[in-house]
Amino acid sequence: MSMRFDRHVVIITGASSGIGAATARAFAREQAIVVLADLRPNEALHHQLEGEGTAVLSVTVDVASSADCERLVNQVLERFGRIDVLFNNAGITRRATVEELDEAQWDHVMAVNLKSVFLLSRLVIGPMRRQGGGSIVNTASGWGLVGGDQAAVYCASKGGVVLLTKAMAIDHGPHKIRVNCICPGDTLTPMLSDEARQLGLHGDALAAAASSRPLGRAGRPEEIADAVLFLASGQSSFITGEALVVDGGGLAGSA
Ligand code: NAI
Repeated sequence: MSMRFDRHVVIITGASSGIGAATARAFAREQAIVVLADLRPNEALHHQLEGEGTAVLSVTVDVASSADCERLVNQVLERFGRIDVLFNNAGITRRATVEELDEAQWDHVMAVNLKSVFLLSRLVIGPMRRQGGGSIVNTASGWGLVGGDQAAVYCASKGGVVLLTKAMAIDHGPHKIRVNCICPGDTLTPMLSDEARQLGLHGDALAAAASSRPLGRAGRPEEIADAVLFLASGQSSFITGEALVVDGGGLAGSA
């Protein structure tokens, strides 16, 4: 197996579950130094990676807090001296129309899904520039590209992630910092079950509904991780500002 990330320092937010955890495992398999950042630490994952020989640091952070983001980046720089990859992945969903949302719910989703990308990216760009480059990958969504029902604030936040990605790619390309995002379709994680329950459905309902997609199923977190590693690696050295759809063809028929 190729080791695209040998001793590269990789920060992953939302690393305790779903797509973040699968991505942490994938980076670890390629010899990266892995920083697991999450509101709720996953000690089992930490110990598993460490047991397999990975250098791993777990930091409990609320990505919506600028103080927490500063503490995270300072801790990583003190311990490892550099940051090669930032994967801004932490996210939450709230299935509701604008009529149903209150202001605090709007602010919370926007802060966790969108403001966090600003808060963390601005802190890593200086170190990346000084070390000669780096790669930022953000998790947007298919619903950052097209609208969805009862998902007003989620779509607003993820649409924001797509264009923030492109704007940062323009600003920081000259510093050899590439910025891309992934747009997953329905993926088998706790979020998908939570989302189904918010709609009053059985926890498996959205996963089952993905059978109507061209590839006939929902995605596995490992399949999203593969795309993240591609965008983070030198294999995508001429790609920046891209929103890569990873959804089994779900959006293939959309404009
Ligand atoms: P998940 O719920 O399994 O994992 C999300 C992780 O983010 C959890 O470990 C949670 O503790 C953490 N988190 C939440 N709020 C946080 C905060 N304020 N600070 C730090 N960590 C926080 O969800 P999943 O599915 O792995 O989601 C990852 C990303 O993928 C999210 O940005 C989500 O919007 C996006 N996504 C997921 C899709 C899906 O179908 N599962 C589809 C499209 C996008």
